[in-house]
Amino acid sequence: MIDQRLLPQDFKINSYNRYQDVAEAIQTMVIRGAPAIGAAAAFGLALAGFQSQASTKEALLQDLREAGEHLKKARPTAVNLAWAVKRMLRAADGFEGPADKLREHLQNLAKEIADEDVEINKRLSEFGAALIEDGDHIVHHCNTGALATVDWGTALGVIRMAHEQGKKIHVFVDETRPRLQGARLTAWELEQYGIPYDIITDGSSGYLMRKGLVQKVIFGADRVAANGDVANKIGSYMLALAAYDNGIPAYSAFPISTVDFELERGDLIPIEEREAAEVLQLQLLGKRVTPESASARNFAFDVTPARLISAWITEKGVIYPPFKVNLKAAMVN
Ligand code: MRU
Repeated sequence: MIDQRLLPQDFKINSYNRYQDVAEAIQTMVIRGAPAIGAAAAFGLALAGFQSQASTKEALLQDLREAGEHLKKARPTAVNLAWAVKRMLRAADGFEGPADKLREHLQNLAKEIADEDVEINKRLSEFGAALIEDGDHIVHHCNTGALATVDWGTALGVIRMAHEQGKKIHVFVDETRPRLQGARLTAWELEQYGIPYDIITDGSSGYLMRKGLVQKVIFGADRVAANGDVANKIGSYMLALAAYDNGIPAYSAFPISTVDFELERGDLIPIEEREAAEVLQLQLLGKRVTPESASARNFAFDVTPARLISAWITEKGVIYPPFKVNLKAAMVN
């Protein structure tokens, strides 16, 4: 894993041999971004297979289920994590053969999940890039690029694809408090791709929209409810509200594995609340900015109602409202 806590100052790769350490890396955001933590959890489960001393398939399955529960607890909102664990466990359940072969099988499946992710991102990015026009200024929230996925990216993947197609675009990068995924990670990625950008503070986009400086808003998703409500990095809802008020399209880009078909509405999505220290430890001029005894709430995600989302950008194509109906149609293609 690229240690994303250290970027852009340091580029360091960490290796893990135990699923418990993978879970901790997910929790502490060494790795982050919904598809990336999904793939990491799949590899975590494969590691759990090799860690287990079990000699029978049944005993191994028991250890794998325990590891799956542990990994799922690392971060609750992004459904890709639970989706990957479920897919691995289902494959383990249905596997016919000895325990050692099952271990290998899980390792191969984790690789398959990772490879698929890259392919899916590229496909959805091609669909999304068709929505981007030459000269567009695009507000992007959080980090949804190669770092947040196995490679390429979702919302940022769309931007990257449009750029590679030769479209002249410019990105307004929401800095994305408190972990600053935009200012640190998205800006770092855009530098690599040679895409022009400006970092903006999280509250700026409404003003820029009113000034006519923004043509599109694109963000990712951590979990999408069956009715089309989108949970994503905190601040996405306010961004979508401002876009709606200004008649600017707001797109959410994600793989279909981010849709939680079992959850009817967005308000049922579990929202991670992280420790207050992430907000309170902010420093300016080398000094903590908040009073020593200050308290804070630190919700990592919010939910944007489906009515504020202009379209979903997925590997099955661009899906317009009503999402439930149109997703069904897209799935048969
Ligand atoms: O807390 P993070 O950094 O894991 O949150 C990530 C996001 O909210 C992304 O927008 C989302 O996972 C989509 S990444 C392709």
